[in-house]
Amino acid sequence: MNPHDESQSFRCVRADAREPGGYRQVLGETKAAFLHTDPPYCLLTRRRKGGDLRDPREHKKIDRNPIVRFETVRDYRAFTEAWMTRAVAHLTPEAPLAIWTNLLGKEPILATARALGFGHLRGEYVWGKRTTDKNANEQLLRVYEVALVLSRTPAPEPRLEDPPTTWAVVGGYDDDSEAARWGNHPHHKPFSVLEPLVRTWSRPGDWVLDPFAGSGSMPAAALRLGRKAACLEVEPEWAERVARRLRETAPPANQ
Ligand SMILES: C[S@@+](CC[C@H](N)C(=O)[O-])C[C@H]1O[C@@H](n2cnc3c(N)ncnc32)[C@H](O)[C@@H]1O
Repeated sequence: MNPHDESQSFRCVRADAREPGGYRQVLGETKAAFLHTDPPYCLLTRRRKGGDLRDPREHKKIDRNPIVRFETVRDYRAFTEAWMTRAVAHLTPEAPLAIWTNLLGKEPILATARALGFGHLRGEYVWGKRTTDKNANEQLLRVYEVALVLSRTPAPEPRLEDPPTTWAVVGGYDDDSEAARWGNHPHHKPFSVLEPLVRTWSRPGDWVLDPFAGSGSMPAAALRLGRKAACLEVEPEWAERVARRLRETAPPANQ
């Protein structure tokens, strides 16, 4: 893949999102118009009550575990500052951010974004994940992760012709069987969950940046909606899977 071939609709490399190299490789001088990403969640190495070490094996759902743990919330903030500072340098001035997080990660992400000039929280996009917990009359939804949507400028006054902005969606972990197909990454997101975010916060033809691609749900959704996808992933095995997934998703003329 030639990373500077302008006809390409995606560029994905194995790189650390805290370092400048990967961004330069996938974007060069091009600026992305939307940052849509799912960084490692704020999961701590020790239980908050009692301070015992958690057993990493209890989270091992796949052949290689991409879950990162942090000693403290402060360490998570330092991690967030390191990657976000790099990522926002590759965005257009108007580009919004949509950053997925678990509940504990919200404050560090908001504080870091604010310090980098993204002082306007446009909203919190909630995924109500269907659980198997149901009876004849009710179905339980679990909210484990949300996407924080941030911008440098406040929301404009809504115009009469504007479509409504979607702030919540309900879906199962793998409604379209894409997770099973692409390695069952524990933080896979189905297309139906990502589609409203991509449609609302970017336009066809825009570059969408994801520095934490995992199994590639975000860049794949961008491609399916006629955007271009630039992404990084630090684990070689996952980076390879993403590249394969994007080759299969992109229109043949743009590969
Ligand atoms: C929450 S997951 C992303 C899941 C993805 N949205 C999906 O649908 O599969 C975070 C990913 O970031 C990767 N990662 C962790 N630290 C990283 C770093 N410093 N730079 C780049 N990627 C990293 C992990 O390997 C993991 O795959």
